[in-house]
Order: sequence, then structure tokens, then C-alpha cells
Amino acid sequence: MHSSQNSPEQMLTSMLGPGIAVEVAAPTVVENQLFPDEQQHIVRAVAKRQAEFGTARVCARRALARIGMAPCSLVPHQDRSPRWPPGVRGSISHTQGCCAVALTRSPDVTGLGIDIEEDTPLQRELVPAICTPEEQQWIGRFGEDARGWLGKLLFSAKEAFYKCQYPVTRTVIDFHDVQLSVDLAAGEFSVAKVRPNGSSWDHVRHVAGKFRRGSRFIVTTAVLAATSKP
Ligand SMILES: CC(C)(COP(=O)(O)OP(=O)(O)OC[C@H]1O[C@@H](n2cnc3c(N)ncnc32)[C@H](O)[C@@H]1OP(=O)(O)O)[C@@H](O)C(=O)NCCC(=O)NCCS
Repeated sequence: MHSSQNSPEQMLTSMLGPGIAVEVAAPTVVENQLFPDEQQHIVRAVAKRQAEFGTARVCARRALARIGMAPCSLVPHQDRSPRWPPGVRGSISHTQGCCAVALTRSPDVTGLGIDIEEDTPLQRELVPAICTPEEQQWIGRFGEDARGWLGKLLFSAKEAFYKCQYPVTRTVIDFHDVQLSVDLAAGEFSVAKVRPNGSSWDHVRHVAGKFRRGSRFIVTTAVLAATSKP
């Protein structure tokens, strides 16, 4: 779905709705705005990583302020997942020229994942690694010119789903552990199958997925509502 209001910030804001604060900025090195432990975390990183990590922290503190939270250090967990203040759910994505953060303290939201990718075709040789055989069959029903972006859409949607589910389940899952079903006209995706699929996981399947295409980006969001209890 192409969006008429199409900056990544506008797309994320309209996809996530009220109650979720979105902040987006172009990555730049921002060391004088970082806490000492954040600076330490990236002291040996290359400039590109320093820029995206720092810009994400600046965006996150702006978003925290908008949901009434005080600024604090945001050094990630050892498994790289984001560390938020108690009661906050959120997600970060970086891509070429764009760094985005979405945060909420709404009790209605248990999990939140966002992803932004450049709207370029997924390399053909990556499709079997990212897409299940059923997803590949779905892509194969479209013309050659659509297949590349549909592959990128599934990649991005799986990244958003992963970021949404991980803080809830603390489980690392692979691209073939998730099968998505996409409604192109509505700009929505849902989880058709997920592994593991035991009773403690059933609620994670109820993630509400959305996507938009705008400017030169594909933007995806995954939200797990509090009503989807284990
Ligand atoms: C976590 C992952 C999805 C992040 O992707 P990425 O290519 O680095 O891309 P992005 O820039 O969009 O996201 C980076 C952010 O992801 C977040 N992230 C990292 N690990 C995470 C996790 N386990 N859970 C939730 N969010 C996580 C971090 O906030 C990070 O930002 P930061 O480094 O500034 O703190 C990816 O690196 C990964 O580990 N994937 C595992 C397998 C997978 O993708 N499965 C998908 C099939 S379901």
C-alpha cells in the first residue's frame, strides 16, 4: 500500500495511532547528548554505528518525554534487545538515512515492533532464506516486477514481528519459524504460523501487523495487544 502521507514519521504515526510516541531523525554522531555508559557502549564502534545508536537514544528520550517519562540511559541488554524504563514497551529501527523509535506506556500494548527498510527489491538469492515455501508460492503469483518488493516486505514484516515478540517470549526465532499472511489492499499482515507453537505462544500469533510504502522506504509495525493473553 502506497501512502499519500509518506515520510517514515508520518507513516509510523498513522500506523501506530494515538498512545504510541514516534520520533524519527537522520543519523548523526551525537556524543554530547549521550550518557557516559551509552558512550562507553559504542566507544569502539565504527562511525556509522555510533551515529545510529546515538541518534536512536536521542529520539527515544524525546519519545519518553512525550509519554511523560524522565530522560534515562538506554544501554541495550546483552542480547541487544532494547532496555526501557519499567512499564514502557518500544522498538527501534535504523536504515540508510533514517532512525526511528516508537514507545508507549499504554496498558493495552504488550509488545511493539517496528522496522524500516529501503524500498529496493530483496535480492533474488535471499528469498529462500527469508520466505517459507508457502510465502515463495504467494510471491510467485505476482509479476516479475512485484516479486522483489514483496520479498522485502516479508523480510521487514518478520523483523518487526521478531522485535515485537522477543521482549515477550525471550525466544530467538528464525525466518522459517514464521509464516505471514499479507493483505496487500489493506496494508496489513498477520501471522499464519509460528514455531514454537505451544500454548504459551498462542497469544503471540495474534500480533496486528501493518505496512506502508512511501518515499523510498517500506515501513512495518507489529503490535501485540494486551487482550491477547497467554
Ligand atoms: C534484532 C534484529 C531483528 C535487528 O535487526 P537490524 O538488522 O539490526 O535492524 P534495525 O536497525 O531495524 O534494528 C536495530 C534495533 O533492533 C533492536 N533489537 C536488537 N535485538 C533485539 C531483540 N532481540 N528484540 C527486540 N529488538 C531488538 C535494537 O533496539 C536495535 O537498535 P539499537 O542497536 O540502536 O539498540 C536482527 O538483527 C536479528 O537479530 N534478527 C534475528 C533473526 C530474525 O531476524 N528473525 C526474523 C524472523 S522472525
